[in-house]
Amino acid sequence: MKDVILALDQGTTSSRAIAVNADGKVVASAQREFPQHYPKPGWVEHDPREILDSQLAVMDEVLEKTGGARAIGITNQRETTVLWDRETGEAVHPAIVWQDRRTADMCRGLADYAGLFASRTGLRLDPYFAGTKLRWLLENLPNVRQRAEAGELAFGTVDSWLVWHLTGGKHHLTDATNASRTLLFDIHRQCWDDELLRILDIPKTVLPEVVDSSGLIAETTDGLPIAGIAGDQHAALFGQGCYEPGMAKNTYGTGCFLLMHTGAKPVMSANRLLTTMAWRIDGKPEYALEGSVFIAGALVQWLRDEMGLISTSEEVGELAATVADSHGLVIVPAFAGLGAPHWDPQARGLAIGLTRGVNKAHWCRAALESIAFQSGELVRCMERDAGHRMAELKVDGGATMNDLLMQIQADLCSAPVVRPKNIETTAMGAAFLAGLGVGMWKDRREILAMLEEERRFEPREIDAAAKWRDWDRAVERAKAWE
Ligand code: G3P
Repeated sequence: MKDVILALDQGTTSSRAIAVNADGKVVASAQREFPQHYPKPGWVEHDPREILDSQLAVMDEVLEKTGGARAIGITNQRETTVLWDRETGEAVHPAIVWQDRRTADMCRGLADYAGLFASRTGLRLDPYFAGTKLRWLLENLPNVRQRAEAGELAFGTVDSWLVWHLTGGKHHLTDATNASRTLLFDIHRQCWDDELLRILDIPKTVLPEVVDSSGLIAETTDGLPIAGIAGDQHAALFGQGCYEPGMAKNTYGTGCFLLMHTGAKPVMSANRLLTTMAWRIDGKPEYALEGSVFIAGALVQWLRDEMGLISTSEEVGELAATVADSHGLVIVPAFAGLGAPHWDPQARGLAIGLTRGVNKAHWCRAALESIAFQSGELVRCMERDAGHRMAELKVDGGATMNDLLMQIQADLCSAPVVRPKNIETTAMGAAFLAGLGVGMWKDRREILAMLEEERRFEPREIDAAAKWRDWDRAVERAKAWE
């Protein structure tokens, strides 16, 4: 079973590994959750060692089952920022997770440069991205700036951190998709931008080399080629076969991320979406528009772990299905501020419309609706940018198993929602990128031939406008709270 591609999917709450054979079938998999740390309100950290150890453990588990692999593809939670010592390979501080809001004030202080950052990087000045998190580390830890300037420290997103350790410290690199989430990378010229680095006061010495998302990138200490790297949302776009301009997918994970392929030229959004890399292959960049929602599956996790309202994530769908609506309850899960299209780091979560008849099942229903509303807002923005309605929405990620959520999504967007047979599109995308890199598959056509639809959810006639009115009103109230 050695003729498989091993895909490592390092996500926000768990590390996964899958082995994919030449027919595009998953033949082995393993997964491990790791702890989240919340040292202050609005702060989210991971222990980089826990990220690494959990990822290596599931990788070994899968390799044991398959007896080896032809190549590795890596996909990862994006923006999460690690700074480590090049000598020891140890991080100098916990990883600052993409959801962390500690640099909100810093972003506000940089407001004069918002246009410059947007035009070069396609991003907004929001704490979400890696650049201000890195600056925070340089400014707030003793000695770190001097050590960084002396070339002793390496910065990276989680892909870089994994590659560094998989290659025994031989390679300090990142792919173009991950680089495009740092606020430091010019997506037009495909290089680190000296002016932006100067504005953020970040020494170039800490930055990784930027490589293609597919091809022979590096070799692990065990001699396995690393042949694909992409941030998880870009990998999912690839795994869904969205290779033509206008094709879009929405991934339901910790957050929700809707990406639409826009071709070889970057398209700037007039509706507060991001412009980002789709991927870069053979030195040729392809671009996407992205809408990012920070809290989706994490809301269900919160209902389970912090509120104890349900005991398993699946229960949310079961309970929500026992009621016809949310009884007027609207939840805005702005736990980490609001992402696209509101971009308000000071928004906080809110539940409104509570009356005495509201019960647990209504909470579950409102939770599912909030995920669909937030994704629906992204669809509305993409449609405005594109100038036409979305023909269909391809979906993936764990929560897409929830039929009720998918139906609510179709109803609110008035568009069909299409679920593939294999909803592990993120890891599949990493496997496809690596498989193309080592010639397991010849081209994208071969990959498209392996993709299968499982179910289409057609929109039903509902009074969507009334629902949207309540949602829009609730969102306005959640804003600028902190
Ligand atoms: O931008 C953050 C995103 O990459 C995290 O994805 O799947 O871990 O929620 P996920």
